[in-house]
Amino acid sequence: MPEHYIESAASDPVTAERLERVDSVRKKLEKNGRTGENAPKYFIQTFGCQQNEADSERLAGLCAAMGYVRTDRPDEAQLILVNTCAVREHAEKKALSIIGGYKHIKDKNPDVVIGVGGCMVTQKARADKLRNSYPYVSFTFDTGAVDRVPELVLGALDGGKRAFVLSEEFKIAEGIPIRRESKHMAWLSIMYGCNNFCSYCIVPYVRGRERSRSAGAILEEAKALIADGARDITLLGQNVNSYDGGTVGGTRIDIAELMHRICALDGDFRLRFMTSHPKDASDRLIEAMASEDKVAKHFHLPVQSGSDRILAAMNRRYTADAYYEKIEKIRAAVPDVSLTSDIIVGFPGETEEDFEDTLAMMEKARYDMVFSFIYSPRAGTPAASMPDQIPREISSERMERLLALGAKIADERNERFVGRELRVLAEGVSKNDPAMLTGRGDPVRPIHFAADRSRIGQFVNVTITGAKTYCLEGEPAPRQD
Ligand code: 5AD
Ligand code: SF4
Repeated sequence: MPEHYIESAASDPVTAERLERVDSVRKKLEKNGRTGENAPKYFIQTFGCQQNEADSERLAGLCAAMGYVRTDRPDEAQLILVNTCAVREHAEKKALSIIGGYKHIKDKNPDVVIGVGGCMVTQKARADKLRNSYPYVSFTFDTGAVDRVPELVLGALDGGKRAFVLSEEFKIAEGIPIRRESKHMAWLSIMYGCNNFCSYCIVPYVRGRERSRSAGAILEEAKALIADGARDITLLGQNVNSYDGGTVGGTRIDIAELMHRICALDGDFRLRFMTSHPKDASDRLIEAMASEDKVAKHFHLPVQSGSDRILAAMNRRYTADAYYEKIEKIRAAVPDVSLTSDIIVGFPGETEEDFEDTLAMMEKARYDMVFSFIYSPRAGTPAASMPDQIPREISSERMERLLALGAKIADERNERFVGRELRVLAEGVSKNDPAMLTGRGDPVRPIHFAADRSRIGQFVNVTITGAKTYCLEGEPAPRQD
């Protein structure tokens, strides 16, 4: 039997067993003299959303714990992990093309281990495709099986069968080591999965049902992050508004309560959250944003469409008016809030009139930034088999109009910051000008300003001197607290 699917048992034992496998790999590498200068290298390629980035930081943590050291060059790696996305066809095509390119690396170095994880290979058809057409891929692992990577690496090093993991159940795996990309900005996963089944979306199928981490585990992680220098923490989940931390000491821990508790931790940091579903964005959450100084005044509230007909077909469970009322509530509570949105163009059946409703919503909502996507049919979702799929030329033409309007509104919105002083976390050196630093304030735009590199990782008061569509410019204010 050349290869097999491993079924994850529902009662999979957790951290201890996982870490045993990490040790086994490390010992094996040690035995072969692959330590220190000789340590093998890992390379991780990540596609998709913040959730995937957070998962890749877990993969990196596991690789480091197993004894691999990081490289940014796949051709010098002994372990290559690809973390794929499935939300649109383009992401899948790109991943397959990159994986295709790794064949040359395997040809040159037959010992290299190549593993593919993430949303794409959580679909059996895609895992099958890799199994059948990409024989140099050693293993695939679904989004619920990150903790099984050490076992899979061990199997590959031992020359075992190729493995294709498709879990039956997605659980929360606590205790996976995390190697974060940034010391100052951190993703903090608070829940996984989604129950909403928007008719276009593959996520509920590839990330499973909603499950929330315990508030205790989240608070511990937040504390450790802050102690380690994190100054910008983003609570992550597909729909953080339905976070359910149960009842602790008689108090229900919803997202608002969780945020209050995190804000009560000592330390100077900013707290964000991603992503919200408008139907679940509660008054309590809005109040938490308004009342907590540490919470960034930024609300990402994807509308997807401004047409009631399309919203119903998308199974979004709100109307354009109900969505707009929510925005009014947010603006009443947090007048200077930065509002951002996701919009899909060319959903099946979208008429010119429906599209104009979306443009009208953009005019009304005055988003600081819009992330827009041409609808991409996803096999297995209801929308993929809906009639009236929109031809590409029409979607592209609508997209151009949407982008132009989005940029015009963003320009106008950005102007309001000129002359104001913003508290900015200096994240690093600007890519375009090494004399400048780049950071983020409450608004989502990057802010460029001249300051010494020693300020990286600190908050700097910046007077905004100019606004462009996609960034702000400024200089350190005379008064720094
Ligand atoms: N086609 C295009 N865009 C999609 N999104 C989700 N599924 C699809 C799809 N099939 C977009 C939504 C979501 C964002 C993360 O990706 O706008 O909010
Ligand atoms: Fe997809 Fe809708 Fe869930 Fe967001 S809320 S992940 S768009 S199903």
